[in-house]
Amino acid sequence: MQENPRPAGSSRPDSAGQPGASDASDTAGGSTGPADRPYIYANDVFKIFKVADLEVVALRGLDLKVEKGEIVAIIGSSGSGKSTLLNILAGYDTPSAGTIYVGDYDMLNMTSKEVVEYRRNEVGFVWQQTARNLFPYLSAIENVELPMMLAGRGSAHRRKRATDLLALVGLGGRMNHKPEHLSGGEQQRVAIAVALANEPPLLLADEPTGELDDETGAEILELLNHLNVDTGTTIVVVTHDPAISASVGRAIAIRDGKTSTEIRRVVEGQQQIGGEAVGVEEFLLVDTSGRVQIPREMIDELNLGERLRVEIVDGRVTLRDIDADDAEKK
Ligand SMILES: Nc1ncnc2c1ncn2[C@@H]1O[C@H](COP(=O)(O)OP(=O)(O)O)[C@@H](O)[C@H]1O
Ligand SMILES: [Mg+2]
Repeated sequence: MQENPRPAGSSRPDSAGQPGASDASDTAGGSTGPADRPYIYANDVFKIFKVADLEVVALRGLDLKVEKGEIVAIIGSSGSGKSTLLNILAGYDTPSAGTIYVGDYDMLNMTSKEVVEYRRNEVGFVWQQTARNLFPYLSAIENVELPMMLAGRGSAHRRKRATDLLALVGLGGRMNHKPEHLSGGEQQRVAIAVALANEPPLLLADEPTGELDDETGAEILELLNHLNVDTGTTIVVVTHDPAISASVGRAIAIRDGKTSTEIRRVVEGQQQIGGEAVGVEEFLLVDTSGRVQIPREMIDELNLGERLRVEIVDGRVTLRDIDADDAEKK
């Protein structure tokens, strides 16, 4: 096998090292050019699945911005489109419409060669199903070495990096255990080490704590936070558990295939786990067309109907149900 199958100057015209070499396709996102574009930039993304004659709209106008080096949680109930988004970010699936970039990669316009290159160099992925992440007949260290072997790295490099990574995820003493002799939490730690083996700038984790008990799940999140700080890897972690927003600095809620609110944990000093939380703030996200999603609880609490009166009162935008408004005036 070739020692380095992906030399820096790859055949892709706008690959890393030549930022903005060609960006003619970035029109849908308006004025956001490659220079000021965040690392992950999704604008008005749609994903429609066709099942027989039925169309399922999994993402409907989703927006997302994540800066390089950030850790972000995506939260939302089952069926809200979290996995669809993550699969698109991982290069496993393509959007039906919209704009989505990760670094210099245009996720809507990649050749199959670029997709392979993207998956190999740019992203590491951790699945919810602990068993799906690891080969059962390989030891922890062999599992971590495998992606490096496939990338053509030499054996000395592989062994050293796998050893370092397993120590980093707290499994230095269990390197020769096979998955069946590791707990669920330990298996997810190995899975994270596997995902980081080829030093991807982006780590994606789809409900990595879904099969774990609360305490073990919290430890995995703490590990992701530490890895984010220690290695500078950008991390997007998906969960259906709203409590996760208490353990990452920034959590974005998806409702019905659209990012709706953002929750920022306000802590003293660093926005990381372990810091003393002084509060949690939730913001409504406004898309480029001015659309917002009013949280369901608020609609129910105020019994809001289909038509609202929008007014600016004392510099604030107010929304009132017109029927309630008329009833009040009588
Ligand atoms: N491959 C697919 N074919 C058809 N429908 C799909 C497919 N994947 C997801 N969906 C549908 O898209 C919606 C979003 O699914 P998903 O992204 O898996 O949600 P989540 O991960 O938030 O639970 C759901 O209605 C789901 O049934
Ligand atoms: Mg899912």
